[in-house]
Parts: sequence; C-alpha cells; structure tokens
Amino acid sequence: MKQIQMQDTYIKKIKEINKNQKYAILTMGCQLNENDSERISGMLEKSGYTKTNDLSKANVIVFNTCCVRENAEDRLFGKLGEVKKYKEENGCIIAIGGCMMQEKHMIQKIQESYPFVDVIFGPHTLQKLPEDLYNSIIENKKIEDILDIDGEVVEGIPTAREDKIKASVTIMNGCNNFCTYCIVPYVRGRERSRHPQDIYNEVVNLAKQGYKEITLLGQNVNSYLVSEKAKGENVDFIVKKESGDEYKVNSFATLLRLINEVDGIERIRFISPHPKDFTDDVIDAIKDSKKVCKLIHLPLQSGSTEVLKTMNRKYTKEHYLDLVEKIKNKIPNVQFSTDIIVGFPGETEKDFEDTLDVVSKVKFEQIYMFIYSRRVGTVADKMENQIDERIKHQRFDKLKKLAENIIAEKNINYVGKTELVLVEGKSKTNEKIYTGRTETNKVVNFEGNENMIGKILPMKIVSEHMWYLKGKYDNI
Ligand code: SAH
Ligand code: SF4
Ligand code: F3S
Repeated sequence: MKQIQMQDTYIKKIKEINKNQKYAILTMGCQLNENDSERISGMLEKSGYTKTNDLSKANVIVFNTCCVRENAEDRLFGKLGEVKKYKEENGCIIAIGGCMMQEKHMIQKIQESYPFVDVIFGPHTLQKLPEDLYNSIIENKKIEDILDIDGEVVEGIPTAREDKIKASVTIMNGCNNFCTYCIVPYVRGRERSRHPQDIYNEVVNLAKQGYKEITLLGQNVNSYLVSEKAKGENVDFIVKKESGDEYKVNSFATLLRLINEVDGIERIRFISPHPKDFTDDVIDAIKDSKKVCKLIHLPLQSGSTEVLKTMNRKYTKEHYLDLVEKIKNKIPNVQFSTDIIVGFPGETEKDFEDTLDVVSKVKFEQIYMFIYSRRVGTVADKMENQIDERIKHQRFDKLKKLAENIIAEKNINYVGKTELVLVEGKSKTNEKIYTGRTETNKVVNFEGNENMIGKILPMKIVSEHMWYLKGKYDNI
C-alpha cells in the first residue's frame, strides 16, 4: 500500500504538468499481459493521459511485451522501427514493459539497436511506472527499472478496463513448473497467490459496475495457495462476504465456490489449470457452481507420454485421457479446449500420432496450436534433437486440419439448438449485427439491438460458419 501511495504522488506530479496528452499501448502477450496493460492504462489515465490508437498522436507509447515464442518478440522489433520516426518528429516517450524485459539479452539488444527507448520496466516493477515516467520526463534520462528477484503481490493499482461486460481478474502471479520449453517461470518468477479477500472485493466491485463475466487468471490457477501451503504458511483465509457472512478459502476449489456466490456475476471462467493439479475438489466445485462455465481449458501440450516426460509436464497420455473421462462422468455436457505444441525436440512421427489420437478422442471445442519455438535459457533449447522447421510446419498443418474437421463436425451439432448467449456488443463489420458467446465460448452473431448488451439471452442457432455460429433471438 505504501508503494501505491508513493506512486500516487508521482501520478499527481505528472497530472500537474500534463496538458491534454495522449497515450497508446500495444499489448503483445497473453491474458495476464492484457490484464497488466489494464493496470498500465489505469495509471496513465489517472495521470491525465487519454487513450489513442494512433501511435503518431501519442505523447507516451507503451509496449507490453511477451517472449513466450519468437514471433511475439519479432512483433516488438517491427513496431520499434515504426515508432522511431514518431520519436524523432514529436519527441514522444517510449516505454517498454512486460516479460521480454526480464531477459537480459533483450535489454541489451534494445539499448544497442534502439537507443531512443526511454523507459524499460518489467512485470515486477509495473506499479512504479508513474515514478519512472516522471523521472524520464523531468530529467530526460533513460530509465531501466527491472527487478531480478520475484516481485511481491501489489494491490491497489488503478485499472482501466476496455470491456464493460467481461473482466479478467489475476489470482496469482508466476509459475513453479518449469516445463522445459517455457520461458515464463524465468520471466515471471515463482508462484505468489493474491489474498482471497482482495480477489473477492475486486469481483464484487466489478459486479457492481455491471460486469457479467469474470475470468480468473494465473499460469497455473489450480495451484492457487499451494506454494504458500508448501512453505508452511497458514492458508486458511476467512473472507468477509458482502452479506457479512464469513467464508473459508484455502484452495482454488474454495475460491471458485466463493466467486460463484457474487451477485451480478453470471459467468465464471478460469485459465489455465494444469492437468497434474486437477484434483477432485476442483471438479466438484466446477460441477456445483452454476456460474462456472462448463468449458474447461485443459492444456495438453503433447499426447505422447515420452514427449510429456521430456517437457516435464508430470502426466502421461493415459492420465490426461483418464482425467478427461473422470470430468466428463462427473459433469454432464462438459467441453474442453486446449493448448498444443508441435515439433518439440525429439518428437517422432509416432509421438505426433499420439497427439492426433488424443485430439480425436477428446474432440476439443477449440485448440490453440503452437509450433515449438526455442527460448534462450530453457532446458529444451539445449536439447540436441531439434526438429526440422519443414517437419514442424507439416505437423502443424496436419493438426490444424484435424482440429478444423472436429470443430466443423461439432458446429453442426449446435444447429437447431437453443444456446444461452452473453451479448457483448455490436459486430465490428455490420451495424445491425450483434455478437456474443455461448457458455462454450463459441461466437454467435445475430440481428439485435442495444438493449440486449450485457444480457444472457436464448438464441436459436440457425447455421454454422466454422469460426462463428449464426443465431436468432428465441424470445418464446
Ligand atoms: N501456464 C499455461 C500457459 C502458458 S503459455 C499452461 O501451462 O498451460 C501459453 C502456451 O504457450 C502454452 O500452453 C504452450 O502451449 C505455449 N508455449 C509455451 N512455450 C512455448 C514455446 N517455447 N514454443 C511454443 N509454444 C509455447
Ligand atoms: Fe510455462 Fe509450464 Fe508454467 Fe505453463 S505451467 S507457464 S507452460 S512452465
Ligand atoms: Fe507472454 Fe509473459 Fe504471458 S511471456 S504468454 S506475456 S506471461
């Protein structure tokens, strides 16, 4: 809190010298990164900046970077080339934050090749942006504000959200898993859970503002409070509810049950859980909590037990399939989505076939597919049996085809049914068309009106179009 009060003094100082200035922010990473961007926006808006999407008009340009795959990094360098001319033309401040700034070789590259960058900060120093920005403006010097050690959980950072219906709430930072391909544990540090009272208060506040859907975020949501427990800390937290009643939270399952009771919130999602931590209490909490969407994102990464072992995922193909079966048996009509990496070092044709096999068996609603990308500092980067780029792409295409066939097949099942759709707003391309999502996160487009926004309405699905369904408001 003290930290935030100090930042507030910098926010006031910037506001005093700020004359109708604008900021632009480019978010390059996952939903956690997007959630961080909402906090960056919150601090900037409190400092008197208004948002613009036109980089040439911005007085402050912030990049919130990601380094999970090479293409995320390439995007930053492409954009830095573009903003150089704005810096020369109007002297705007350029700040770079996010996961990539936790990598020393990247900071070095920026300092050498893009010396015009003013402020460098990381996920652990995000809350200090007002101070860093102020010092950069006043003293006209380059700021590098990176913490190598794990940051603490900081509460009370102002937040500016773009969406008015759906909101993300981070419940924990960091990751302890060290999957061998992944850079995240190196850049985000160890797991740290937020206090459930802070999470509860945030969700209650969002509900009061009219938000209907909450996504609980973390690299590993089902290990919420687990590392605190392992350190011997007391994790039996008593949360005081709006009603005055008390509720004990000591796990992800109990947190889900608590959030399910927040009036006004109608849908709850969470990403990402780890299959190894998907305990029965979590399955029961999903089953019992009406608002928790029955679409579970369950990252597979690979269907091959051998590959899973070298990935350090700590489950086998059979364990994954058994878990899916167990969840399906307990929760009727549950659906799954997943993340898959193709071309991990040493992946044979047979291993890849195992991935296809799991995909055919589980019939995911949605698959986020990635080509393995070497990350400096990870164990897998040092493995000698890297896969040829051509083979990686061939496998990716084959998986994509299979996934699309399954999606098309499943889409047909929606046609003729009535689905409950949370209406999000107007479609971007057609004034008369509105758009929303089913509980299974399928996009539904339909003819509608302003009054429907924010409501969950029954829609008759009249046709399917691969990436969206067409619906008709079914008001009888
Ligand atoms: N913590 C989450 C997600 C982490 S990053 C989880 O464990 O599921 C999101 C996804 O990016 C991962 O699930 C993985 O599929 C992918 N990913 C991570 N590192 C990668 C790499 N080096 N190459 C390709 N994909 C990667
Ligand atoms: Fe990366 Fe694995 Fe942690 Fe997910 S669980 S963030 S994939 S190390
Ligand atoms: Fe990228 Fe960091 Fe998220 S590396 S995927 S922005 S946690």
